[in-house]
Amino acid sequence: MEILSPSEANIRRAGEALARGLLVAIPTETVYGLGANAFDTRAVARVFEAKARPSFDPLIVHVPDLEMVDRVAYIPSAKVRALMEGRWPGPLTLILPKREAVPDLVTSGLPSVAVRLPANEIARAVIRAAGLPIAAPSANPFGYLSPTRADHVARMLGERVDLIVDGGPCPIGVESTVLDATSEPFTVLRPGGMPVESIEELVGPVEILDRSVATPTSPGQLPSHYAPRTPLYLFPRGGLAAARPRGRAAVLLFDQAALAALEAAGRAGDYAERRLLAPDGGLIEAAASLFAELHELDQGGFDAIYAERLPETGLGRAVNDRLYKASEK
Ligand code: TXA
Ligand code: MG
Repeated sequence: MEILSPSEANIRRAGEALARGLLVAIPTETVYGLGANAFDTRAVARVFEAKARPSFDPLIVHVPDLEMVDRVAYIPSAKVRALMEGRWPGPLTLILPKREAVPDLVTSGLPSVAVRLPANEIARAVIRAAGLPIAAPSANPFGYLSPTRADHVARMLGERVDLIVDGGPCPIGVESTVLDATSEPFTVLRPGGMPVESIEELVGPVEILDRSVATPTSPGQLPSHYAPRTPLYLFPRGGLAAARPRGRAAVLLFDQAALAALEAAGRAGDYAERRLLAPDGGLIEAAASLFAELHELDQGGFDAIYAERLPETGLGRAVNDRLYKASEK
C-alpha cells in the first residue's frame, strides 16, 4: 500500500492503476471510497474481500460527469434528469435502472444500480484518468466506522488496498444520501450528506424509508452499522443528564450548550473525556467531525461512549442515523 499526494502525475498513476484492476482509495466530499473498475469483476470481488463485506451488498458506481452515467444506467424521467443537473456533483446517490454492462456482482443481481457524481475534484480527476466508472463503497471494514481521512483508510485496510490518494479530511463527513429514483414518489433509502429538504426543494415531497422495515434493500438500512468497537449509548437530545456511566467513559456532545446543560445537571464529571462535535452548534460542522471523533474515541480505551442526538433537521438527520446505527440496542 502506498499513500499518494494528489499531484497531476499521481492522479494519472491512480487512474491507470484502477484501469489495471487495482484497488485505489479515493477522497470524496463525504467519506473515502475504496475504488475499483466497475466493469472488472475480479477487481470488484477484491473490494468485497478487502472490506469483508457480505456480497449481497450492492456498491455505488462513481462517474466523473453526466456523460458517463449512460454507460451504467438509464435516466428514467425528466424529473430524474432535473435532479442530476440540479444537485450533482454532490453527496447524492441515485438508484437508477441499470445497463446490461454492469456486472451483477456490483448490483447484487438487482435490476438497478446506485450512481453518484462526487463533488470532490480529486475523485473526479482520478475517475476521468481511469476512463471508467468506479465502484466504490466506503473504505472501511464492513460494519465499522467510515473513514474521513487517508490515515483512517491506511489503519483500517492496510495492505488490502493498493493505493490511497490523500485528499485531506472529507468536508461533509457522512456518506451520501441514497435516493431510489426508479419509481415515484422517490424514496430516501439512507439519509446522508445531501439534506432531504434540498432534494424536495427541487422535485417535491419524497418518502423516507422507515428503518424498522423487515427486509433491507440497502445495507445502510441495517440497524447496526458504522459502529465503533467501544459500546456507544445514545440518548435523546438533552437526555444525557439521565445517564449513569460506569467505568471510564467518554461523552460525545453536540455543542457548547449541551456541555453547559450537562455541567448544570452536575454530571459532566462522570466522564473521563468530553468531546464536542460542533462547539458553535453547526450541523454541518457536526457531520464533518462525527467519524473522526468516533475513530479517536474508539482508540482511547474507554469502557463506553455516551452520546446525544442532534436536532432532526438538515444534516442532523444523517448524523442521528449514524449515531443510532453505532449504538447498543
Ligand atoms: O458517500 C458515499 O456514498 C460513499 C462514498 C465513497 O461515495 N460511499 C458509500 O458506499 O457509502 P457504501 O457502499 O458504503 O454504501 C452504499 C449504499 C449501501 O447502503 C447500499 O446498500 C446502497 O448504497 N445501494 C447500492 N446499490 C443499491 C441498489 N441498487 N439499490 C438499493 N440500494 C443500493
Ligand atoms: Mg459504508
